[in-house]
Amino acid sequence: MSEQRRGSSTEVEAPKPPKRIAADGTVERSLPEAPPTPPGAMEYDYTNFYFGAGEDAFALLQPFDDWWTEARPAGYYLYELPLHTAPSTRVDVEDTKTHEVRRGLVNFASYNYLGLSYRREVKDAIKEAAETYGGGASGSPILSGTTELHRRLAEEVADFKAKEAALIFPTGYSANVGTIAGLMRSGDLVVADQYAHASIVDGMILSKATSRFFRHNRVEDLDRKLAGFEGKKLVIIEGVYSMDGDVPPLADIVEVCRKHGARLMIDEAHSAFVYGENGRGVVEDQGMEDEVDIHLGTFSKSLGGQGGYIAGSRQLVNYLRGFSRSRFFSCALSPVVVAGLRKALELARNEPELRRKLWSNVAFMQKKLAEGGVPIGDSTSQVIPIMVRDDARIFHMGEEIFREGVFINPVKYPAVGKHKSRFRMSISAAHSEEELEQGADVIIGVLKRYGVCQ
Ligand SMILES: Cc1ncc(COP(=O)(O)O)c(C=O)c1O
Repeated sequence: MSEQRRGSSTEVEAPKPPKRIAADGTVERSLPEAPPTPPGAMEYDYTNFYFGAGEDAFALLQPFDDWWTEARPAGYYLYELPLHTAPSTRVDVEDTKTHEVRRGLVNFASYNYLGLSYRREVKDAIKEAAETYGGGASGSPILSGTTELHRRLAEEVADFKAKEAALIFPTGYSANVGTIAGLMRSGDLVVADQYAHASIVDGMILSKATSRFFRHNRVEDLDRKLAGFEGKKLVIIEGVYSMDGDVPPLADIVEVCRKHGARLMIDEAHSAFVYGENGRGVVEDQGMEDEVDIHLGTFSKSLGGQGGYIAGSRQLVNYLRGFSRSRFFSCALSPVVVAGLRKALELARNEPELRRKLWSNVAFMQKKLAEGGVPIGDSTSQVIPIMVRDDARIFHMGEEIFREGVFINPVKYPAVGKHKSRFRMSISAAHSEEELEQGADVIIGVLKRYGVCQ
């Protein structure tokens, strides 16, 4: 059976824009139609099913299921669509509504910013490790799960980040949770940017420290939130904000932290390996590497693998080795994944042209979107939010974009604020100009039909 016939899905040829036959027989692209009216279910979202009356812990399952049955085909099906290919610049994606496999879609949905996940060298390293180590680590990193590959990866990350030491976690999520909850306690204060990732928020909750949030990138608000607190203080920011694609004003934040004696942690999930002369992140780009105390990152974005890390002083890493429960009590990364990561890190270090290509692709797309009148907020990075601000109709737009040959994820409340719905576009160094152009044209065409841009 051919690759293409896997599963029960049928296959469709390269996606084509919807067409209609005019009276004279000519074929024209479909005209804007009156936007479809969203079904009643779309007036609700996940947050309506968070609290419910009654004593049964399952009391919300039935109402949620009733809602989901109606809401899913109306747009929520656009999540968790199975890919039938690697997360490359073009992907084959299963349409779970029609059970077709849509082929050759331009991919703006994957975090593969440097196109490393499917590189030949990475795949070969993975195969070799599988021969030696098999599938999994079969143990916590502090017991039997650390292989020679894990030890080397930690050393290589520390060396790359120019820090004394690094600690590897099973995911970026667990790196945040384990670091924050490992360091901060009840009675301490953690202050994070209001757009901080869920894993930062969860770490704050788990730490039982007092949690505060300052207005996005607003240093004077950070100052207010830190003022008057006696005791241990940690401030947490991101390098590139994952839903907005903007960066923090590091020098000003460092100044406020110093004023209040607060330690500073940066999550460079979306900026490590792509920002800075050597790829060491926004801290390198803004000349602030030594001013930040904890450098956190993931391997799941630019390195195209899986896992997370923190880099910093030897003492910090040593302490967290003992107190990061999300690492301590979880199986170590598979050696197969670690082998791929080591190769991907080597490529990211040795091929600065990948970063240059990424930034030229970002500039190309920014120009294209600006010409199309597409609002992208304050993004300056490879994460580009296409601001639709139409919570009711974003799924309709998403469906049309998908059917016209582009894979990109809609994001709406509660993942972002109300009336802040958007498509989250990820640019890769591996995209060709033709792919960027074609993908942008589809998106701009659909947004124009919906009046999002003129
Ligand atoms: C800022 C940020 N931190 C942490 C994470 C979690 O990383 P991972 O997916 O590797 O667990 C993400 C994931 O999207 C993120 O955007």
